[in-house]
Amino acid sequence: MRALLRCRASKFEHRSPFLAGFRTIVTTCRAVVLPHFGGPEVLQLRSDVEVPNLKPDEVLVRARAVSINPLDTRMRSGYGRSIFEPLLPVILGRDISGEVAAVGSSVRSVSVGEEVFGALHPTAVRGTYADYAILSADELSAKPGSFTHVEASAIPFAALTAWRALKSTARIKEGQRVLVIGGGGAVGYAAVQISVASGCHVATTCGSQSIDKLLAAGAEQAVDYTTEGIEFTMEGKFDAVLDTIGVPDTERIGIHLLNRGGHYMTLQGEAASLTDRYGLVFGLPIATSILLQKQLQYRCSHGIEYWWTYMRADSEGLDEIRRLCEAGKLKIPVEKTFPITQVMEAHEAKDKNTIPGKVVLELD
Ligand SMILES: NC(=O)c1ccc[n+]([C@@H]2O[C@H](COP(=O)([O-])OP(=O)(O)OC[C@H]3O[C@@H](n4cnc5c(N)ncnc54)[C@H](OP(=O)(O)O)[C@@H]3O)[C@@H](O)[C@H]2O)c1
Repeated sequence: MRALLRCRASKFEHRSPFLAGFRTIVTTCRAVVLPHFGGPEVLQLRSDVEVPNLKPDEVLVRARAVSINPLDTRMRSGYGRSIFEPLLPVILGRDISGEVAAVGSSVRSVSVGEEVFGALHPTAVRGTYADYAILSADELSAKPGSFTHVEASAIPFAALTAWRALKSTARIKEGQRVLVIGGGGAVGYAAVQISVASGCHVATTCGSQSIDKLLAAGAEQAVDYTTEGIEFTMEGKFDAVLDTIGVPDTERIGIHLLNRGGHYMTLQGEAASLTDRYGLVFGLPIATSILLQKQLQYRCSHGIEYWWTYMRADSEGLDEIRRLCEAGKLKIPVEKTFPITQVMEAHEAKDKNTIPGKVVLELD
C-alpha cells in the first residue's frame, strides 16, 4: 500500500451560476480502490484517483471520517458483483463526515466550509473512502453540532436504513409495539432509539453484552438470543418487526410475533444475491416474483405486510436523525478508529469479528 500522500490541489471554486457540471480545482486525491473482489489484501490506497466534475446537485466533501458498514466488506468480497463487476475499479464506503469543499450550481442546502455528514446509496460506485467524496445534496445534512466527525460518521447509513423501514415503510406511531431483531448491531441500535423517540414500546433481541445498553436506550425488553427461546420469552405481539438478521428462523419468529395488519421488514432481501447468481436480466424478475409471492402468502396466512427494506437517501429523514442526535436521543458508539492508511487491517478486523462494534477510518 502506498504511503500517505496529499491531494494534488487544495483550493476550490465556489458555486458557478454559468457552468452546469463545473470543474473543481481538485483533480485527483487519495482513495481506497477495489480493483477486483477478494479479501482485505485487495484494497489499494491510491494517491492519484480522479475527482470527477460536480453535477449541479452534487457536493464535494473533504472527508474527515468514514465508517465501515457490513456492505463495504461484503462488496469487497463480491456481493453485488452483477452491478459492480463491470464498473471495477470502484471506491468503497457509504458513510461520511467532513467539510463541504465545493458545491454544484443548484445546491442551496449546504455551503462551502460547512461541516456535514451523510451517506451514499447502496449502489453508488464512487464511495466515501477518499479524501474528497461526491454526494448529492439530499444525501447530506449539517453534522450534529456536539458530535465529532468520528461519531457522526457512524450514524447515517445505519440510521437511514432503520428510518426507512420504521418511518417510511411501517409508519410507526406513538403507542405502537415494535420488535427489533438484532438490536446489538448499528442498524438495530439505531432502530431501537428511533422507535423509542417515536413513542413506541420497544423489545429487542441481542447478545448478552448488549442488554444493558439497549435497556438504557429505552427498550422495555431485551432478550439474549444466544440463551433464550425468543418466541417464548417475548411478551405480547407487535405492530412492526424489523429483522436485521433475516435468516429463516428469525423470519419465522418475527412473523409469528406480529399482530394482524403488522409489518415484517427484513434487511436481508434477496435482490442482490439473486441478481449475482442469475445476472441482472433474469435475477431481478426472479427476485420480484419471490417477493410478491411471499407478500401474498403472508397476507393470506397471517394478515401481515412483508417487506424487503433497503437504505435509501432521505434528506428529511437525515435532518430528523441529526435532530435526534443533537437531542441526545440517537448515538452509535464507535469501538475503534484506524487511519485510512490501515484500511486493510480495519477490514480484516471486521472480517474476523475481532472488533464487534463500529469501526471508523480517519482521514487527516
Ligand atoms: N438492506 C439494507 O439496505 C441494509 C442496510 C444496512 C445493513 N444491512 C444489513 O443488516 C445487517 C446489520 O447491519 P449492521 O450495520 O447493524 O451490522 P453490525 O453493526 O455489524 O451488527 C451485527 C449485529 O448482529 C447481531 N446478531 C448476530 N446474530 C444475531 C441473532 N441471531 N439475533 C440477534 N442479533 C444478532 C450481533 O449483535 P450482538 O453484539 O448483540 O450479538 C451483531 O453485533 C447486516 O447484515 C447488513 O449487511 C442491510
